[in-house]
Amino acid sequence: MYFKYLALGSLVILYILMFIGGYLESSGQGLACPQWPLCPSGFLPSAQYLTEWIHRLIAAITGVVIIATAVGSWKVAGSHKKIKITGTLAAIFATSQIALGAIVINTQLKATIVAIHNGIGILLFAMTLLTAIYAFRISRGAAIKTSA
Ligand code: HEM
Repeated sequence: MYFKYLALGSLVILYILMFIGGYLESSGQGLACPQWPLCPSGFLPSAQYLTEWIHRLIAAITGVVIIATAVGSWKVAGSHKKIKITGTLAAIFATSQIALGAIVINTQLKATIVAIHNGIGILLFAMTLLTAIYAFRISRGAAIKTSA
């Protein structure tokens, strides 16, 4: 039952991403890379854009892992309505958050947009946390059934 580790992995990588986002803002590097989707250095990182480049790379990986978790939340044996809802909402929030990242840059860090970026991040974290909790409960339930 590897699904619970996928759900836990999505929570951990999301936490790291939000931590880096906070650092990006407080260190004033939010517009270090003024372009979207790639920085002027292209796919490769450069010292000048490093924090932003890492935030974008981890955002892309997080998006993939959260979408995979959403798919798993529908397919896992013992899946229920609640995990389907939280898993799907997490995938919706993750994709909106990535699209919003482009608007954060294109509006040159407009305060309202950055606040929405932060707000959706919190909702995304809540949904990802619930999905991980449900995944562990489903796994425990399956283990109890097998041993009974
Ligand atoms: C799942 C995806 C993402 C999550 C969860 C996320 C989360 C965050 C968080 C929590 C912050 C700190 C905001 C604050 O402290 O108010 C932040 C900042 C930021 N994010 Fe993201 N982010 C994501 C994707 C992206 C993408 C794809 C971009 C594309 C450029 C981006 C650009 C930025 C920028 C520029 C800042 C700094 C804003 C500033 O300096 O005011 N984010 N992000």
